[in-house]
Amino acid sequence: MCGIIGIVGKSPVTDRIIESLKRLEYRGYDSAGVAVQTGGKVERRRAQGKIRALEAVLADSPLTATVGIGHTRWATHGVPSERNAHPQTGGRVTLVHNGIIENFAELKAELQKAGRTFESETDTEVIAQLIDSCLDAGQAPLAAFKSALDRLTGAYALAVLIEGEDNFIMGARRGSPLVVGTGEGEMFLGSDALAVGPFTNKVTYLEEGDYVAIDHDSARIFDEHGAPVERPMKVVSASAALVEKGNYRHFMEKEIHDQPEGCQHTISAYIDAVAGRTAVPGGVDFAALERIQIVACGTSYIAGVIGKYLIERLADLPVDVEIASEFRYREPALRPGALAIAMSQSGETADTLAALRHCKARGMKTAAVVNAQESTMAREVDVVWPIHCGPEIGVASTKAFTAQVSVLIAIAVAAARARGRIDEAEEQRVVKVLLGAPRLIAESIGLEDAVREIAVDIAKARDVLYLGRGPMSALALEGALKLKEISYIHAEGYAAGELKHGPIALVDELTPVIILAPFDSYFEKSASNMSEVIARGGQVVFITDPEGARHAPEGAKVVMTAPASDPLISTLVMAAPIQLLAYHVAVLKGADVDQPRNLAKSVTVE
Ligand code: AGP
Repeated sequence: MCGIIGIVGKSPVTDRIIESLKRLEYRGYDSAGVAVQTGGKVERRRAQGKIRALEAVLADSPLTATVGIGHTRWATHGVPSERNAHPQTGGRVTLVHNGIIENFAELKAELQKAGRTFESETDTEVIAQLIDSCLDAGQAPLAAFKSALDRLTGAYALAVLIEGEDNFIMGARRGSPLVVGTGEGEMFLGSDALAVGPFTNKVTYLEEGDYVAIDHDSARIFDEHGAPVERPMKVVSASAALVEKGNYRHFMEKEIHDQPEGCQHTISAYIDAVAGRTAVPGGVDFAALERIQIVACGTSYIAGVIGKYLIERLADLPVDVEIASEFRYREPALRPGALAIAMSQSGETADTLAALRHCKARGMKTAAVVNAQESTMAREVDVVWPIHCGPEIGVASTKAFTAQVSVLIAIAVAAARARGRIDEAEEQRVVKVLLGAPRLIAESIGLEDAVREIAVDIAKARDVLYLGRGPMSALALEGALKLKEISYIHAEGYAAGELKHGPIALVDELTPVIILAPFDSYFEKSASNMSEVIARGGQVVFITDPEGARHAPEGAKVVMTAPASDPLISTLVMAAPIQLLAYHVAVLKGADVDQPRNLAKSVTVE
């Protein structure tokens, strides 16, 4: 994630931009920069490293203006450097960006062919050059902005200055958040309410595809079709906690919606987007590895099961995944030469920590896939693989789950490349697939209205079954865990092929059966399982993709169509509907969504 601020002010902005960037440093801090509009000219200052490096540059070479933008960077395209720091320019356009543009290479080639030269390695500079090329074609600023936005594939939050357009900043959001702040004769753009918090508590949350033009007194917002829209203005509480909830009722709801940006942040730490290859930190020699042993609990265990499917299929590397509380006491037959990976959002779960220590005591190399980088597990392993999804407050894990799976996907690809199972071209293809995941997750979250509707029926159920095959069998486990832990409805996740070995006895007209079945190599089998359930009166919620919807057997109570996705990332894309289903059922039942009964966010006792 990166942090963005824009101010159309009536008093000097440079110090206020720096103040805001310091609040945004949690989003990324490998470089930072400011650009201001003054006297019809745009000037910028940038620095590699933390905000204080930028402050030193500004102390030497101040900027005085009342209109400006600022950015603190988490590098995705291009190494951390002043050259790759934002703001980036293209002709009259200077802008800051949070997100990943998937088609930046094609656009860059097109612009270079048209004679444009580039200063940086970033995808962001491509956006600036693209807008400038539309200005060159005679379009007015807003029209040029919209034309450029329509060419972009990927995720972005933007704040844009056009040289000579005083008292004017444009902004846009897709897949990364952006808010408008309303002051007294001043207007603001920011990554979140925290960014504009020092200046105003009147915040308007832009929606997916929105773009906006602000001046001293107004914000003109347009939807993705270019139609003027009104978005509600909220007065946010001064308390950081409430502000962190943003536009949402619960942390869990916010964290589900944060996944597109969270996964961008995670993925960008494990790939070199410019070279189109994986860049997994820690120096593990996957070619020499004989086996991976994953130990974890709960949702983290389920992420590990998905990792097993992908690492074994792509890299032909044996992976065992085990519930930590069982593993630690059963005296497993361990051998050096294997890598033990602890999966844990908190990095403090007692059973997982004990299992990890068991592996370490037997001479295994150890790694941890964790969110809390200062946690006990992170301090005790040989290799730390952070998931970089920001603090997860809701007890039910959502964004950490998809972030964990994202890390395991990157590891699967890196291991496949290291073991010669895929060539450079295939690695570049799958890296591009991985870069596209945040956008597809955002589209999948768009199923929320359909989910909210079916939640009314699910909330009445006594028992719910979740079925899937392959990696979707693990997602079935996760869907069941989410539902039971926050709505208290009994739910079970099963490999769909197991249905006839017992669970089908549960199926009657009162039993909702959630079947997760993208149109992949398992689809036909899952479709026949669906027919078996329908034949016994089961109420099927079929979650698939467009091709799967076209081939689905008749009789489902509802068919939900998530976006089509490569099997490599389908669990990332199909996670949102099951997370949202659990959330909305729990809300309907009046459960304490963020702090469900009997649970804790981190189980640091046995
Ligand atoms: C997930 O929604 C649950 N809150 C729980 O199963 C959790 O995943 C488990 O306790 C493991 O926690 P950790 O990832 O912090 O180790």
